[in-house]
Amino acid sequence: MKTIRLPVHVAFIMDGNGRWATRRLRPRAYGHKMGVQNMFRICGHAFHLGVRIVTVFALSAENLSRPQAELDELYELFRTFFDKKKEKLLELNAKIHVIGDLAALPEDVQASMHALEAETAGITSALLNICVGYGARQDVLQAVNKAVALGRFVDDASFHALLLTAGVPDPDFIIRTGNERRLSNFLLYQAAYAELYFSSKMWPEFSRRDLEKALVDYAARSRRFGNVGGKE
Ligand code: FPP
Repeated sequence: MKTIRLPVHVAFIMDGNGRWATRRLRPRAYGHKMGVQNMFRICGHAFHLGVRIVTVFALSAENLSRPQAELDELYELFRTFFDKKKEKLLELNAKIHVIGDLAALPEDVQASMHALEAETAGITSALLNICVGYGARQDVLQAVNKAVALGRFVDDASFHALLLTAGVPDPDFIIRTGNERRLSNFLLYQAAYAELYFSSKMWPEFSRRDLEKALVDYAARSRRFGNVGGKE
C-alpha cells in the first residue's frame, strides 16, 4: 500500500449504523457504539497507511432534529470518547479539530471537546477533523455573512479562510458507507474536486480491507481538475 498515490485528505460519511443494528435486532444505539469503535479502527488504519488528514461526519446539523432519546445516546458516546475514554482518541496521535455548531450539545460535552482540542493542539503529523452539528450550507452562509459584515468581496482563497474548515486543504477523497449515494450537506464547497466513493457496507462493517480497496480505486483515478490529460 505504501507505493500507491494516496489522498492527503480523506473524509468519511459514516452512514448505516442504525440499519446495521436494526438488521441484527439490536437497538440503534448499539449501532452507534459499534460505529464509534469502527471509526477508531478506520481512522487509525488511514493514518497508518500515510493519509495525513481525516475528516469524519459524526453528527450533522440536520441530525440534531432526531428524537431526543437518540441524541442523548449519541451525546453519551461523545461524553465517553472525549472524556472518560479519551485515550482512544489520543492513541490516534492526531490533532483533534471539532468543526460545526456545538451550541445544541450539552455544555460538558462541548467543554470536553475543547479540552481535547487543546490537549492535541501541538500535534502536526496528522489531523482528525470531527464534524459535529455540521452542515455545509450553514457553513457557506455563515462565511458569506462574515464577508458581508466585513464589507469584503471574496475570492476562492479568502472565502476558504472564512469557512469552518479554514486552513484545512480540501478533501481529495470522500467515502460514504451505508449504500446511499449523496453528500447530505457535507463539505459541499470543499468537495468541488473530491473523488467520491460509495460503499454498500454499513459503517460498522466497513473494514480496513475495504478502506484499502477504496484507496486502490482512488489511486487508479485520473484527477484533471477541469484540465486535460495526464495524472495530477
Ligand atoms: C449515520 O448513521 C451516522 C450518524 C448519525 C452518527 C455517526 C456517529 C458516530 C459513528 C459517532 C462518532 C463518535 C465520536 C466519538 C466522534 P445512522 O445511524 O443514521 O444510520 P442509518 O442511516 O442506518 O439510520
